[in-house]
Amino acid sequence: MTDWFAGDVAARYDKSTAGMPVEPVVDFLFPFAAGGALELAIGTGRIAVPLAARGVRVAGIDFSPDMVAELRKKTDEIPVEVGDMGTTQVDGAFSVVYVVFNSINNVTTQDGQVATFANAAAHLSPGGCFVVEVGVPVTQQLEVFDLTDTHVGVDEYDADTQRLVSHHFSLVDGEWRRLSMPFRAVWPAELDLMARLAGLELRERWADWDRSPFTAESRKHVSVWEKPT
Ligand SMILES: C[S@@+](CC[C@H](N)C(=O)[O-])C[C@H]1O[C@@H](n2cnc3c(N)ncnc32)[C@H](O)[C@@H]1O
Repeated sequence: MTDWFAGDVAARYDKSTAGMPVEPVVDFLFPFAAGGALELAIGTGRIAVPLAARGVRVAGIDFSPDMVAELRKKTDEIPVEVGDMGTTQVDGAFSVVYVVFNSINNVTTQDGQVATFANAAAHLSPGGCFVVEVGVPVTQQLEVFDLTDTHVGVDEYDADTQRLVSHHFSLVDGEWRRLSMPFRAVWPAELDLMARLAGLELRERWADWDRSPFTAESRKHVSVWEKPT
């Protein structure tokens, strides 16, 4: 498995995501987190650090040691296991396990995504919830998803295999750099089946963290599956 977030990507991650929403995500997760929160693909702690600042016991799993090193510059209070989110275990049980910002797509096989749901369920206490934020797959073969003076993002999608490659062209220190990262796109219905295989039940599905309705036009969703008591 390749660590796509090593080196420069980790070093520049917080700067490159500075415009991403944080408070709406933390506001949504907080009511679920009374019994602790586990973030899969915790990264640099963009969401975990402000959630922990609200008094929540937060732990994490991430594949990239360099991303975790960036988190460690912010806090020693959040325990993190370095490894694959489909197989890595942490101590304890949690009332919420979550994976945001399309990070479930970083798992590039169906088996791996199924294992991720099973691993999330294994870390949930009864009545606990698994929260996933992920895009609805694009249907075009090529789609420009960002176009600014310093960044051009193009998604390349193969409907046969659900393989998605996000090509990022970034202007860094006056030089254009390219990073092409592989993903596995996945539809809500397939995620629901993965959840059922893991013994979880769909509880809520929204178009965004503000609980706007999920419709046929929605480009992403925030879904909540519950572990029965
Ligand atoms: C887009 S970043 C998201 C980080 C953080 N959750 C956030 O919202 O800023 C994706 C993260 O997924 C991690 N990752 C990718 N594949 C993974 C895997 N199989 N298991 C665990 N973490 C993984 C990367 O190392 C990276 O930190």
